[in-house]
Amino acid sequence: MQKILVTGGTGYIGSHTVVELQNAGFQVVIVDNLSNSSAEVVDGIARITGIRPDFEQLDCLDCEGLDKLLAKYKDVAAIIHFAASKAVGESVQKPLLYYRNNLVSLVNLLELMPRHGVENIVFSSSCTVYGQPDFLPVTEQAPRKPAESPYGNTKQICEDIVNDTVHSGTKIRSILLRYFNPIGAHPSAEIGELPLGVPQNLIPFVTQTAAGIRPKLSVFGNDYSTPDGSCIRDYINVVDLAKAHVIAAQRMLTGKSKSPVETFNLGTGRGVSVLEVVNTFEKVTGVKLSYEIVGRRAGDIEQIWADPTYANAELGWQAKETLENTLASAWKWQQKLTAAGSK
Ligand code: NAD
Ligand code: WQD
Repeated sequence: MQKILVTGGTGYIGSHTVVELQNAGFQVVIVDNLSNSSAEVVDGIARITGIRPDFEQLDCLDCEGLDKLLAKYKDVAAIIHFAASKAVGESVQKPLLYYRNNLVSLVNLLELMPRHGVENIVFSSSCTVYGQPDFLPVTEQAPRKPAESPYGNTKQICEDIVNDTVHSGTKIRSILLRYFNPIGAHPSAEIGELPLGVPQNLIPFVTQTAAGIRPKLSVFGNDYSTPDGSCIRDYINVVDLAKAHVIAAQRMLTGKSKSPVETFNLGTGRGVSVLEVVNTFEKVTGVKLSYEIVGRRAGDIEQIWADPTYANAELGWQAKETLENTLASAWKWQQKLTAAGSK
């Protein structure tokens, strides 16, 4: 059984990926410092898959600790590197925390990989590297735009770090996955997104408003040049997204990569506006959402959605889940969180 090291594996996207990796027959070792997740997530993964992944609470900034860990779990075939700080607003307040955490964690892993004979790494990148693209849908060839935040900048720099390292001649290959907007939860509602404090992202804010935790949703702007005036994004189901990681790992492990570093857009190819999200959520759940239109949010991109053609063709992967089912899964997860909180 091939072993995959998943950093950030108790986090939102990481935990869903661990489930899919185990379903596909991989043995998983999770490394997470629990800065933005809980160890109970491992129980959720075990309930879904019937398999308890190895879990090591460790900070990826701790190079010595990682070195020991890679010595302990010999023969790691690939690393999927999710561990990072990801709050855009916080990154503006605390840029050095973001630069240190996101860059140094990656550097540590890349330095240690050759020492332990690990040759493959999947890196979590983001559509944020495109800024507001000149053409839509956006392909992988679109130029990266200057980052809007320190967080976004870390994704660009990390992509560069991977590229430079691989092209320096070291025995490492990589796949950079640029996620669009991951949403929803596992259909079992055993795992999902755990936002700490007031959510900054749309879907957790929507579900918390529906649950009565927030009085109302603010829709940031209805005067954009879009059909209904609200911003457009490509919302991708988190389980669909997780499955792409399994395929990316398998692609490297079976020698199918076409170049030492490959980059793929992971999105649905469909742009959906904020107001469409609100309306679809109401339709699917039967819950009336209290919301108001407010001013634009600083730094927001007007509209972006993926051209996933390359990922569809090369990975044989496609985002399949409907927005309706995905929003229903987010609501089911929220209801579970609400019930757990009121006990
Ligand atoms: P998340 O915060 O739920 O998961 C990240 C996990 O990494 C958390 O469990 C956290 O505790 C852990 N972590 C952070 N720093 C660590 C460190 N130094 N050492 C060990 N563990 C550490 O976030 P997520 O939404 O699952 O995002 C996963 C990855 O995908 C991140 O790299 C993020 O930047 C990227 N990404 C996320 C989105 C999104 O909208 N969620 C979009 C594009 C890219
Ligand atoms: C989606 C839409 C908001 C909250 C961010 C990061 C990006 C990536 C994904 C990691 C926007 C609107 C939101 C609210 C609203 N993460 N909105 N009211 O901004 O596309 O991307 O997460 O890489 O880097 O920037 O996602 O969920 O914050 O917003 O109207 O209370 O919902 O204006 O149009 P975003 P989001």
